[in-house]
Amino acid sequence: MSAPESIRPRGSEMIATVRGLAKSYATGVALRDVSFDIPRGEFVSLTGHTASGKTSVISVMEGIVKPDRGEVTIFGRNVTNMSERRLDAFKRKNIGIVYQAALIDRSFTVAENVRLMANANRQKISNRRIVEVAGLFNMVDRLFGQAGSGSGGEQMRISLMAAVAPSPGILLVDEPTSALDKGTSEAVFGMLRDVTRQEDTTVLMVTHDPVAKEYVDREIVLEQGRVLDEILYDRATSADNIIGV
Ligand SMILES: Nc1ncnc2c1ncn2[C@@H]1O[C@H](COP(=O)(O)OP(=O)(O)OP(=O)(O)O)[C@@H](O)[C@H]1O
Ligand SMILES: [Mg+2]
Repeated sequence: MSAPESIRPRGSEMIATVRGLAKSYATGVALRDVSFDIPRGEFVSLTGHTASGKTSVISVMEGIVKPDRGEVTIFGRNVTNMSERRLDAFKRKNIGIVYQAALIDRSFTVAENVRLMANANRQKISNRRIVEVAGLFNMVDRLFGQAGSGSGGEQMRISLMAAVAPSPGILLVDEPTSALDKGTSEAVFGMLRDVTRQEDTTVLMVTHDPVAKEYVDREIVLEQGRVLDEILYDRATSADNIIGV
């Protein structure tokens, strides 16, 4: 894996801008006024109490929910008013999405599952790339073993591998560790941080887990459909994080 792309300074360019999002349902208000920016190369968490609007924000960012007000741009393109056909193509090229561990087909290997998930999204992934991504998720030794014989943590890693393999510019992940124990959760946070250091993929992750603070560059805190706080964590930047590539 080549390092130069990873050494560019993070935060120099906005991958996504979220502006004034509001969304109400018959049952109540999900988003009142949400604005934030996601700088390129950062590992960003979106936190807040249950029903604060986290999943709603992700759903608007991936274009499956249209807001009542406000807009989201990703790579300078407004995804809130894109036609369905364009959005579909745009997402395939630029956005990786992981909601929860996908259903694994136990009759196939880990590598085949990654390929099947990518194919389902009409993305072709080379063997070389699967091995490369397995390295990021510490799955090289498991690639040709039966999928599903592993833990929940492994299933989540397979889903993350499939989402990262096509090299999306941004990865949106909703509560990847909610079903995992503490040690496994920390491993997944570390791997997602590695993705932002070693790949040109920026990560926005919804989480309830307080341990995530130890790993992210920035935390956006929602409360009742508004941004309550935005916290910047001082991480060592760039090259010192790519030792061991
Ligand atoms: N499709 C929907 N129809 C009706 N109400 C919705 C819908 N989606 C979200 N809501 C409501 O909007 C509010 C915000 O929901 P959202 O799922 O975004 O919260 P969240 O922060 O992701 O919560 P959690 O931590 O429990 O996942 C909640 O009150 C929820 O019930
Ligand atoms: Mg949610």
